[in-house]
Amino acid sequence: MKSILINPDTCTKCGTCMEICPVNLIVPDSEGMPFMPDEVGVFCTKCGNCEAFCPEDSISPEFNTTHSTISEEERHGITPGQIGVYMRQRRSVRNYTDEIVKREKIEEILDIARYSPSGMNNQPVHWLIIHDPEEVRELTRISIDWMRGIRDSEEMHPLKTIVPPLISAYEAGKDPICHGAPHVAIAYAAEENPMAFTDSIIALSWFELAAPAFDLGTCWAGFLKMAASEYPLLIKELDLPEGHIVQYAMMFGYPMYKVRNIPGREPARVSWK
Ligand SMILES: Cc1cc2nc3c(=O)[nH]c(=O)nc-3n(C[C@H](O)[C@H](O)[C@H](O)COP(=O)(O)O)c2cc1C
Repeated sequence: MKSILINPDTCTKCGTCMEICPVNLIVPDSEGMPFMPDEVGVFCTKCGNCEAFCPEDSISPEFNTTHSTISEEERHGITPGQIGVYMRQRRSVRNYTDEIVKREKIEEILDIARYSPSGMNNQPVHWLIIHDPEEVRELTRISIDWMRGIRDSEEMHPLKTIVPPLISAYEAGKDPICHGAPHVAIAYAAEENPMAFTDSIIALSWFELAAPAFDLGTCWAGFLKMAASEYPLLIKELDLPEGHIVQYAMMFGYPMYKVRNIPGREPARVSWK
């Protein structure tokens, strides 16, 4: 099975692709020209790194993908200082306006998040975007129902002492689950995939980090995730494809307030050897 093609007219035999391939599938022929033997093509993870790092743009994938080049200006487009300020000013947003985020904008963010790393380049993450704010309110209602069950049950539950004030807040007209956000992004994947949880968290982290550049705020929806993992009524409401489970969820929308300062955090706990 052929996975990549190397253009012999432009390849300079620099060997970068052979060094870069994470599974060492690219080897030199008798003249030092790199190639991937057909019989090992099946092991290619389609990560595209040979294509990405080739200085001569000589490698084209044979699998279905898109290829784009990076201009010199884009290559150096962000300084350490800029990324530091950008990332440090990310905050969990729990106050949203009612403005609906256009689907095109959400698709742009997802188009960035799909480039996040995944184990063996498996790309297992699927997205369910709850775009209808009424449906978000329904998810909150069902989650509170789940919390009432925890409160009223004789059985022990790790949230037993936490749920009563959340239920009271809901009954007082607040939304302690999705904080009145107009939308929720749910990353889901096949239940049997042992890497999917980590891959989904990474993909959601990318979503979270990209969002402020689009004037959006986000917040991880931990309670919603827990309810979606154990409450049959919420699982039914989400109606994911057979064999797939919620990996994590994130609320998002236009923030009501602007971030003005960066709060303190613990120093990095590091040891060196
Ligand atoms: C895995 C995870 C789950 C979370 N779940 C919730 C949640 O259910 N509700 C909420 O209001 N915040 C939730 N948060 C947000 C944290 O409370 C928040 O990240 C933390 O207080 C630090 O604040 P910052 O995000 O503004 O830096 C969650 C964060 C993470 C990482």
